[in-house]
Amino acid sequence: MAVLLVLWALWPILASAFSWHGLWYDLGFLGPHPTLKYESFDQESPEVNVLRWDPRCEEGYVFLSPRGHSYPDPGPLVYDSQGNLVWIEREFGQIMDLKVQRYMGEDYLTFWAGDDDGTRGLGQYYMLNSSYDVVYIVSPANGYTGDVHEFKITDEGTALMTIYDICEADLSSVDGPEDGWIYDGLFQEIDIATGELLFEWRASDYYDIDESYYPLGEKGSAPTAHDAYDFFHINSIDKHPNGNYLVSSRYMHTVTCISPWGEILWVLGGKRNTFKDISPDKSATGITWQHDARWQSETIITLLDNGAHEHLSTRDHTRGFMIELNFDDWTANTLHVYDSPGSFSSHSQGSLQVLPRTGHVFIGWGKPSAYTEFTVDGEVLCDFHWGPRVFFWLGWIKSYRAQKFHWVGRPRVPPDVAVDEAGDTAYVSWNGATDIAGWVLQRARNSSAGEDEFESVAYTPKEGFETQVDLIGEGYFRLMAVDLEGNEMGVTRGFEGCELTDIDIDDSSTSSFFVFSERPFQWMLVGTFTTGAVVVGAWRARKRIRSIFERYFR
Ligand SMILES: *[C@@H]1O[C@H](CO)[C@@H](O)[C@H](O)[C@H]1NC(C)=O
Ligand SMILES: *[C@@H]1O[C@H](CO)[C@@H](O)[C@H](O)[C@H]1NC(C)=O
Repeated sequence: MAVLLVLWALWPILASAFSWHGLWYDLGFLGPHPTLKYESFDQESPEVNVLRWDPRCEEGYVFLSPRGHSYPDPGPLVYDSQGNLVWIEREFGQIMDLKVQRYMGEDYLTFWAGDDDGTRGLGQYYMLNSSYDVVYIVSPANGYTGDVHEFKITDEGTALMTIYDICEADLSSVDGPEDGWIYDGLFQEIDIATGELLFEWRASDYYDIDESYYPLGEKGSAPTAHDAYDFFHINSIDKHPNGNYLVSSRYMHTVTCISPWGEILWVLGGKRNTFKDISPDKSATGITWQHDARWQSETIITLLDNGAHEHLSTRDHTRGFMIELNFDDWTANTLHVYDSPGSFSSHSQGSLQVLPRTGHVFIGWGKPSAYTEFTVDGEVLCDFHWGPRVFFWLGWIKSYRAQKFHWVGRPRVPPDVAVDEAGDTAYVSWNGATDIAGWVLQRARNSSAGEDEFESVAYTPKEGFETQVDLIGEGYFRLMAVDLEGNEMGVTRGFEGCELTDIDIDDSSTSSFFVFSERPFQWMLVGTFTTGAVVVGAWRARKRIRSIFERYFR
């Protein structure tokens, strides 16, 4: 208790050394899911805590698929490189793996949407064009439903997708019933244009059940189809231009190279590892519970080594790896390691992407609501939390993957606008529109004014998702979005200045700090418990404290 009181007294000094708001945010004082509200737009978006930002970070947008206990209405979410909202949409329900992929020379937003049973997904894959219209819905062949873990479009215009198929299997090798059930791990390659099945691979044809590290009985003993044994857990597929597939099995702790004919060419990690590990800490073949294995070249692969699964863990924190394989002497070597900043552990999900222009490594941490951009050598350049650090382990707000892409979005709906009660300020935003440089305020005499009667009276550079614009003079206004060259991108509806509009403005909660003051007692309790937890945690992690301080004091 004395420690707590001392801490409480020293709190302002401690806090001023950090960023106040960022510290409150990460300690959970702003609640488990701090959000930003907008005047012109009726949806809230998760507030981002920027821990580090560097101009060297690659230009682009960040693509997330938030869901979890604190995120009851899931859907796709796009941020700009500074953490401002660009697009949020809730009409698709739960989605996974939001990314930009190229098909027939055009960029599409792709994702999985559907139901998931905690292990696998039962859904389809969506492809949206730049105006956010659904252009393709892709499903696996042979009557299977699409699983959440992968939808990857290849350069040949085909799509790779994961499937979890419940089927009967003999589980006696793992002390289970002879007439048991498994989730078999499949993947298919489909021609997107025709839906034709080009290739299918099934894990149980090539892997033995007892090669799994996942304990049977974690989710039942598999006597029925409902608690089938997830022995393989396929969670990524990639294809090299030479035709070889790369498959990650989370529960086998393996990354497997599969020939275009289905044979296993080599296995990295797990019980059937093909390689001699020449990295000092044997990390290349010691991967556990990993995600997102990708070809970077014929001899270099990357992946996210979670090192943890629920309550099972083999490491104290999660790391990304770039691994070099040598097929002359069959050695594997970890070239680069990307440690989670502040040493947290991701018990599920996550992604690792090598960015196309800079070669930087971009990691979405999965269950912890955070993403980080590293140089190839492992220096942290940009580090963002989109949920509080103290709740990372709970996964109340999480995204299966977080990835960065270039994207041009041109929604077909016009920009949104709201005017304050005094009628002298407008708030303008445009959900989904990218590359807006600023807003031109245009004025006409009255609402019956023709197109050519509007004159431009002022320009306001875009700031964040929503821009505040002072209305100059009286009359009838509209706001026009323009790009960097001054080209018109779209205009809002017209609205009266100096007059109450039909849009109801809620002034009480424009900042999440007010949420804090609304329920002071509740948050004080949260704060007290959090502080206690921090003190205990700090004592137990004394050695790591120094690195954390270096991060914030830098
Ligand atoms: C997107 O697809 C819709 C529906 O097919 C189409 O009407 C629209 O023009 C497309 N948008 C672009 C930018 O091509
Ligand atoms: C609107 O303004 C035009 C001139 O721009 C004027 O001729 C017209 O009478 C005005 N209408 C109303 C309803 O005030």
